[in-house]
Amino acid sequence: MAESFPGHPRAAEASRPLHAHPPVDRLADMTEHAQKAGFETRAIHAGYEPDAMTGAVIPPIYATSTYKQDGVGGMRGGYEYSRSANPTRTALEGNLAALEEGERGFAFASGLAAEHTLLQALCVPGDHVVIPDDAYGGTYRLFAKVEQPWGLAHTPAPVSDVDAVRAAIRPGETKVVWLETPTNPLLNVGDIESIAALAHDSGALLVVDNTFASPYLQQPLTLGADVVVHSTTKYCGGHSDVVGGALVVKDLELADKIAFHQNSIGAVAGPFDSWLTLRGLKTLALRMERHSDNAEKVVEFLSAHPAVSQVIYPGLPEHPGHAVASKQMKRYGGMLSFRVKAGEAAALQVCERAQVFTLGESLGGVESLIEHPGRMTHASVAGTELEVPGDLVRLSVGIETAEDLVADLDQALHVG
Ligand SMILES: Cc1ncc(COP(=O)(O)O)c(C=O)c1O
Repeated sequence: MAESFPGHPRAAEASRPLHAHPPVDRLADMTEHAQKAGFETRAIHAGYEPDAMTGAVIPPIYATSTYKQDGVGGMRGGYEYSRSANPTRTALEGNLAALEEGERGFAFASGLAAEHTLLQALCVPGDHVVIPDDAYGGTYRLFAKVEQPWGLAHTPAPVSDVDAVRAAIRPGETKVVWLETPTNPLLNVGDIESIAALAHDSGALLVVDNTFASPYLQQPLTLGADVVVHSTTKYCGGHSDVVGGALVVKDLELADKIAFHQNSIGAVAGPFDSWLTLRGLKTLALRMERHSDNAEKVVEFLSAHPAVSQVIYPGLPEHPGHAVASKQMKRYGGMLSFRVKAGEAAALQVCERAQVFTLGESLGGVESLIEHPGRMTHASVAGTELEVPGDLVRLSVGIETAEDLVADLDQALHVG
């Protein structure tokens, strides 16, 4: 690809070295042409131009905490200190912004670090937030055990019920409606466009955790959301080798607030982690296609299995969120859950008998994972409104040979 590749957000400055750009302006001149480049092209090229001095096509890992100044305050490209900005992180942040069709991206040390930073930027004690009544357990714990004692109230509401979300809003007090879609682990689907409209009608912002879908399958900012959240640990990184988080926004005033809090709180992605995540993003489109293909085959198998009482996957026509998912997602992704007819003990046995599916937390990597949400990822919601059924098993379907995945589940489901 030529150095003047027009899909790059900084194409107009392509002849200048990476570090010659003030980090805060890195997407300001994103051309109309760049906006139109295809997803896969943006995934591979956006955020970085081959290095002006060496031609390196991949951004170096800038393992530096500080930068030489040419005279006091004479910063090269605005880089001053690596908590504030680091060129490897800048490349990742530009790439994420381009993939989500936003203006600015921010990379953090984890998904929860991104979430906490965002809440600190958007809310003050006394405010209120509507949260999903089915969400990642760690997100719920953050709201219940960290933000609430600080003074931020929350009300859980089902994401699939627009009227229930509307009813949970406290006009004047609710600053944020927080959506996960599809949700973790029950794969409920929220209508991003409708919920954005109702949040905006009451003066609240809509935040969408897009971790399960990834920017390849769903772009919430194009549907009216104000902020996209990712645990980049999952599909964005894609190889189970890095923990990270991200925020992407369109509004530049909001971006400035987040930038201030990102620097002030300091829970930033390091250069090594940024590099791994950026490498993962380059193949996101291919991976998501294969995750979706394999998940569909696993769903077909489980749906016909006598030991399974329910398969939960937004791609199934009988899934209550199927129509909305079909409207706002490109495909239905690699995550699915199912319930084991014989109950919790049998569900635990299935998890333990699986061999190709690795028993473990997390999701979105190339390898298939199996877990028991009630005892693992969602143990922190036991006894709350977000408690999950004991007979539930969650799968993160990887990109292995589909027949091997099906055969593994077949043997694991022969539980006594
Ligand atoms: C949907 C969702 N959001 C946020 C997070 C938190 O991300 P992290 O573990 O990177 O802090 C997770 C983690 O599992 C998740 O599944």
